Amino acid sequence: MSDSASEPTPVPRLPAGFIWGASTAAYQIEGADGADGKGVSIWDTFVRRPGAVRDGHTGEVACDHYHRFSEDVALMRRLGLDAYRFSICWPRVLPAGAGRVEPRGLDFYDRLVDALLGAGIEPLPTLFHWDLPQALEDDGGWLNRETACRFGEFAAVAAERLGDRVKRWITLNEPFVHMSFGYGFGIHAPGRTLMLDALPAAHHQLLGHGYAASALRAAVPGAQVLIANNCTPVRLRSDARRDADLTAASAYDTLHNRLFNDPVMLASYPDLSAYGISASSWEGVVRDGDLTVIGQPLDGLGINYYNPTWVTAPADPPSGLPFGLAEPEEPYRRTLSGWPVVPDGLTELLTGLKARYGDALPPVWITENGCSEPAGLQDQARIDYLAAHITAVAEAADHGVDVRGYFTWSLLDNFEWAEGYHQRFGLVEVDFATQLRSPRASFEWYRQLIASQRG
Ligand code: BGC
Repeated sequence: MSDSASEPTPVPRLPAGFIWGASTAAYQIEGADGADGKGVSIWDTFVRRPGAVRDGHTGEVACDHYHRFSEDVALMRRLGLDAYRFSICWPRVLPAGAGRVEPRGLDFYDRLVDALLGAGIEPLPTLFHWDLPQALEDDGGWLNRETACRFGEFAAVAAERLGDRVKRWITLNEPFVHMSFGYGFGIHAPGRTLMLDALPAAHHQLLGHGYAASALRAAVPGAQVLIANNCTPVRLRSDARRDADLTAASAYDTLHNRLFNDPVMLASYPDLSAYGISASSWEGVVRDGDLTVIGQPLDGLGINYYNPTWVTAPADPPSGLPFGLAEPEEPYRRTLSGWPVVPDGLTELLTGLKARYGDALPPVWITENGCSEPAGLQDQARIDYLAAHITAVAEAADHGVDVRGYFTWSLLDNFEWAEGYHQRFGLVEVDFATQLRSPRASFEWYRQLIASQRG
């Protein structure tokens, strides 16, 4: 790493006690496919489907974090992280999704948690970051209500083993993305193309969140439970002010944001009539009492933010969806993945959540934010991205949003789902041929930022 890191871009001070972190997910970094009795996940299956992932890449080895976690924890210590968000691979712990527990899988997370605590870093596990056991998918996956019960049982097993040391937990990662990409459009595992028939996967994941929250609270005294939702501010183009565009924007906001935020904060679903769902047709899916389980008090709302979404009225001929997606007209800088860089969207999102949910909004945690940039160690674009987004968080805090932490995505370059290894989100560059880790300029910048915010 170069000693001559660039001068830190000034970032306003976040409130005292603010938690600085970094995030990863099991399938994206662990590798060790099949090791120590691990069962098969839907991603293990999906990556073998021809054409599913760019260039046929798989997470079989990924960053080999399963075997190299000590080196990775040493990097986190050097960075000065307060907390590390990782996910627990369900089929490592319960190879068939339910029933027999694989102690060697739990042993790995035990070692990881101990290493983190030894380095003074809070472990923040996510219980579901998309790697559903294949055996449960074979029974319908998240379209099957039973999967929610199995998820609650998995949470109990994880809590029993780790709950003496882990107090803060995240249940689900981005149930919107898993439902839409995994079950609606088929671009993520399990690769189903059900379009709007994927909607029950939203309710069953949320019910699973509720069961997991109950299990965690039963097993871990003082447990704090969060969910990590992918949220987006919905924007219209300046030339779009027709009623049809406004209606489309509201429909998109309902699907992407409110479908997952309302139930956990208000214990109710938004009006889903734009999606052909009426109170009575949703009746077969949502049973009495479900919303009480889902809407039990939340200790924190995790927000994963990448960019706003521009929406228009549906295309002609209609796509079957009550909205169309548009490109922004502003010439935003784009990341390597082509996403527009819009830091003020994060302030808009956070203040908008406060305006919408008021006192029902628990403390907010930015559980993911970051960018893919070209390979190489000099990544000023990433530094600028992070500085601008952290500044946006500080602005939301100034407007009265209770924000408790910021976790950048990601610590390491990793397996970026359908994009394979073509996108690089890491503060640390990974050479996937040799597994050499090389901290980038952004690593040194983030290290200095954390130190100066503490000082
Ligand atoms: C996911 C991560 C992913 C990141 C960048 C989020 O949607 O939670 O797993 O790598 O965005 O695409």
